[in-house]
Amino acid sequence: MKTIKNYLTATLSLIILLSCSEDEPKKTKLTPYEFKNPTNFPVLQIPADNPFTVEGIELGKMLYYDKILDKDSSRACANCHFQNLSFSSDATVLPHVNLAWNDAFLWNGKVQGTVEEIMLFEVDEFFQTKLERLNNHETYKKDFKTVFGVDQITSNEVAKALSQFIRTLVSSNSKYDKFLEGKATLTEAETRGRDLFYSEKGDCFHCHSEPLFSDNDFHNTGIDFTFSHEGLAEITGNSNDFGKFKTPTLRNIELTAPYFHDGSAATLEAVLDKYNAGLSLYPTVDPLIRPLGLSTQDKQDLIAFMKSLTDSTFLTNPAFASPF
Ligand code: HEC
Ligand code: HEC
Repeated sequence: MKTIKNYLTATLSLIILLSCSEDEPKKTKLTPYEFKNPTNFPVLQIPADNPFTVEGIELGKMLYYDKILDKDSSRACANCHFQNLSFSSDATVLPHVNLAWNDAFLWNGKVQGTVEEIMLFEVDEFFQTKLERLNNHETYKKDFKTVFGVDQITSNEVAKALSQFIRTLVSSNSKYDKFLEGKATLTEAETRGRDLFYSEKGDCFHCHSEPLFSDNDFHNTGIDFTFSHEGLAEITGNSNDFGKFKTPTLRNIELTAPYFHDGSAATLEAVLDKYNAGLSLYPTVDPLIRPLGLSTQDKQDLIAFMKSLTDSTFLTNPAFASPF
């Protein structure tokens, strides 16, 4: 019975397939993009309605580097998110690193869900893109038709194209990754730093967990002595979330100063001084935050380890660079 049913379904699908291809003989063929999932990363879930294509990624990259998306055309995404700074900048800009595996975005978690949802927010709310500008643009009109088959571009397709590009921004080739593959050795300082990172003394790994070096969650680390930033509580309205912010990735961290949501630490040394003090002045500060008793040597070692997370291939990959 099951085989007959399978046979019928298969035949039916074939008929549908054949009749479709007869109906739309001119539909442009898109090139599938072979995504290389780093072996030590979770398997990436790609939404069924936005599969990777080479053309889609290229379109997303054009949009990322084009000021056309901004309502007054004054800036492109890439004017604040610089590739050589891990798609961050010298302000409190969150980097674009391995966002494909994230489901909570922005320091206060204002957008939670898929990459498409955060891109829709960027397009509609942050840039307030004037869609008629894209619809009146010959090349974009043609490209959106090719990639998504639409005659009228809406923010949904813009978000989808951007998402395809953002998902390709994978950083997994740092010295530390090579060490894990047995292709590099850590220095003594890096090794001591790694041990501290994973020890109960340093306790960094609970929140900055491998391989993303973020737990995709929100914590109050007690760095804001003014209690002026509500963080996640601003979104949830729950006072237990006061002062909680997204755990940022530590990949390429040496390039993304200043640190913390308020930029209150200018250097990695300053970050560690705050952690080391472990001030817990507010009830929502995470229990892991406490005086750590790190020596000057310990701090230098932790910094050496964090610097082993720099991935120069990511920072210079021509596939991510401006197409203009
Ligand atoms: C004027 C500078 C600026 C521009 C232009 C800009 N961003 Fe950002 N971006 C930021 C800042 C600052 C943050 C952190 C803001 C926050 O969390 O409140 C951020 C955060 C993000 C995040 C969240 C990352 C995370 O880890 O949660 C994404 C995604 C993002 N931007 C994408 C974009 C895209 C796509 C564009 C273009 C459509 C863009 N940005 C344009 C400054 C900018
Ligand atoms: C309780 C969870 C938690 C622990 C434990 C923790 N972090 Fe963090 N870390 C965070 C969060 C959340 C932020 C962002 C805080 C903010 O901006 O308010 C952060 C920020 C940082 C930053 C700045 C990142 C940036 O882009 O601005 C660095 C560097 C850092 N942590 C390193 C460490 C190290 C090293 C340790 C161990 C000594 C550690 N963290 C322990 C959660 C944690």
